[in-house]
Amino acid sequence: MHPQHTIPLRARKAPPLKGVAQVPGDKSISQRALILGAMAEGETRISGLLESEDVLSTAGAMRALGAEVTRDGGGKWRVRGAEWKSPAAPLDFGNSGTGSRLVMGAVAGKNLTAIFTGDASLRSRPMARVLDPLKAFGAAYQGQGPKALMPVTLEGARDANPAEIQVTVASAQVKSALLLAALNARGVSRIAQSTLTRDHTEKMLVAFGAKISVASSGAGEVISLEGRIGLKATAVEVPRDPSSAAFPLVAALIVPGSEITLPAILLNPRRTGLIETLKEMGADIQIANRRASGGEEIGDLMVRHSKLKGVIVPAARAPSMIDEYPILSVAAALAEGKTVMMGLEELRVKESDRLVAIIAGLTANGVATEEVGDDLTVLGMAKVPGGGLVTTHMDHRIAMSFLTLGMVSEKPVTVDDVAMIATSFPKYQDLMRGLGAILESP
Ligand code: S3P
Repeated sequence: MHPQHTIPLRARKAPPLKGVAQVPGDKSISQRALILGAMAEGETRISGLLESEDVLSTAGAMRALGAEVTRDGGGKWRVRGAEWKSPAAPLDFGNSGTGSRLVMGAVAGKNLTAIFTGDASLRSRPMARVLDPLKAFGAAYQGQGPKALMPVTLEGARDANPAEIQVTVASAQVKSALLLAALNARGVSRIAQSTLTRDHTEKMLVAFGAKISVASSGAGEVISLEGRIGLKATAVEVPRDPSSAAFPLVAALIVPGSEITLPAILLNPRRTGLIETLKEMGADIQIANRRASGGEEIGDLMVRHSKLKGVIVPAARAPSMIDEYPILSVAAALAEGKTVMMGLEELRVKESDRLVAIIAGLTANGVATEEVGDDLTVLGMAKVPGGGLVTTHMDHRIAMSFLTLGMVSEKPVTVDDVAMIATSFPKYQDLMRGLGAILESP
């Protein structure tokens, strides 16, 4: 079902990157728009949807569960919600942790049974973090081993209880799954988290008419949601993904002479940790035309090549840039001095063990690192030797990060497989070549 062949790619030293980079729609918001649309009454119209493999897997799952999902073209989609039914075949989420975990939450609150599976990367990722707390609503599951690896059979609650749950991991996926289960519980559920993670689910639930309120509590928050209110279809405008923007952005910062614009990027403060960190490092990133779009803040970024210096990135910032550590590590490799990134334990359970993959990729290209517990230090250098072959471990962000390193290193950098880039950023190669990058088959 999943193609086994790999597609290697090599990046070599680029001339100054110039132009306008129109990055695709936000992955988190695209996933949520399809899922909430499928749970709501009426027709949800989505514009700017990210048409990537991860999002298409979720669209397929929504169809299998009973929703009508129609592509009108160019990011415009319609979803007609329905009473969900047990799917006839396993739901295959490919590479997508977000899609699978959020849908587990939605299924857990409903009286139906579904089997969840995915590719080799997804089948190695822990599902117990979401499935165990979902038991509080009355759901039951069977997975593989203590981490509840896929394939997982999930039996939703017959008559879901409301629940009070303290989420112990800094994960928006877990929080969101619990909120989606709570939608079908009889009464008010309370979901507490001790750190702030991305809040797209909460915002979108408001737009779909849910009864939800958020109270801060220490460094975290408690979200209360009343079940069985019935979501109403709405229009969703998906802003451009800051986690995809991160690749051309860092490329422009480190390739001498570069100057690019990234219009209409999502600037939700729970997603902007990378921009904050890069600015502390001395990056020339100007933000213009801050405005609202689809209930989220967006703005245009102007980025110029900059001399960067190493900084300490505190653990508390991790949730707001959790997907950006691979590309930050590449920026750090070119910075003057050390960059210390603290509290990276969540990187171990991403599409790959990203801590291991970052260190291996940097080492292969002559960049020194230090790993102490869950903290990573990258020792910056004026010239990165490059010349290495990077193993991507089916991880799109590892692939794009090390291609970025090749745009500035002395010798080209080769990544073993770029197939997975299609999970989040299908036109990555065209977009980077359009700015001047040199990407070639090895
Ligand atoms: C996501 C949350 C993050 C992030 C993932 C998308 C989401 O995962 O890494 O790419 O859409 O909720 P965690 O919340 O598990 O850290």
